[in-house]
Amino acid sequence: MKIIRSIKEMASLTKKLKEQGLTIALVPTMGALHEGHLSLVSAAKEKTDKVIVSIFVNPIQFGPKEDYKRYPRDFKRDQRLLRPFAPIIIFNPSPKEMYPADFKSYVEVQDLGNKLCGRSRPGHFRGVATIVAKLFNITRPDYAFFGEKDFQQQLIIKKMAKDLNCGTKIISLPTVREYDGLALSSRNSYLAKDERRSAAVLFRSLCRARKLIKSGENNTSKILLAANKIIGAEPSVQIEYLSIVDPETLDEAKTIKGRILIALAARIGKTRLIDNLMVVAR
Ligand code: PAJ
Repeated sequence: MKIIRSIKEMASLTKKLKEQGLTIALVPTMGALHEGHLSLVSAAKEKTDKVIVSIFVNPIQFGPKEDYKRYPRDFKRDQRLLRPFAPIIIFNPSPKEMYPADFKSYVEVQDLGNKLCGRSRPGHFRGVATIVAKLFNITRPDYAFFGEKDFQQQLIIKKMAKDLNCGTKIISLPTVREYDGLALSSRNSYLAKDERRSAAVLFRSLCRARKLIKSGENNTSKILLAANKIIGAEPSVQIEYLSIVDPETLDEAKTIKGRILIALAARIGKTRLIDNLMVVAR
């Protein structure tokens, strides 16, 4: 397992791999790895010759009152979890390496970045698009792997890759879940025992909405009311949004037809969690 901390070294290795005609996959992460991340690494290994996993807690995608400082960091553990996938390249730069004092350039994907999570996290997707663009430029991947758990994020990255001619194919993969349906997330480690138990309502409410849609219900208010009710049964869970949207534009779906996305964000104590389910209406 190769660990690289400097941009210069990473870029020159990328160049060498390209010259050898090898295909490169990038799996961008912020570390605190779990089975969700590992499912991306596993798919990347199958698809390409060389896999780069970036581990970098990106300061510019966190708001001033968000959890940048307390975000879980355990490089040794991450390294151990990645060992079964060796040979692999870990790119683990420092914040100073990625954002020197004179850093001035940002990437913004308009419209998509202002919806759903973008409303309560201004600047978040600008921070994500900027770091991913930098990682693409440093590693020049043929493929980059993202999770559908962060549905809005993968959609924004696909748009950016297309608009800016990044030459990287974005592959998105299904959400890996716990036994009770809770989507794996590095932030789940913040949850106290009782909060963890309550968190299962998020997936349950999405499933309720899916069931109604599958049974032919097409009144969005009725569907949302039923889903809200399930979350409402857990007073410790505060809904930030629960929406039924078009999976391409992220605009509220006016009619329930074809592919639609049910997406939510909620707070349990100080922890903010997101989840979503794609449904094909009949
Ligand atoms: P992070 O939250 O570490 O997630 C890294 C990748 O793992 C993302 O593509 C995310 O969607 C995916 N992922 C997270 N939980 C998952 C799950 N339960 N099942 C499947 N995939 C899952 O997302 C980020 O980091 C950052 O914003 C990043 C893209 C690295 C830019 O800083």
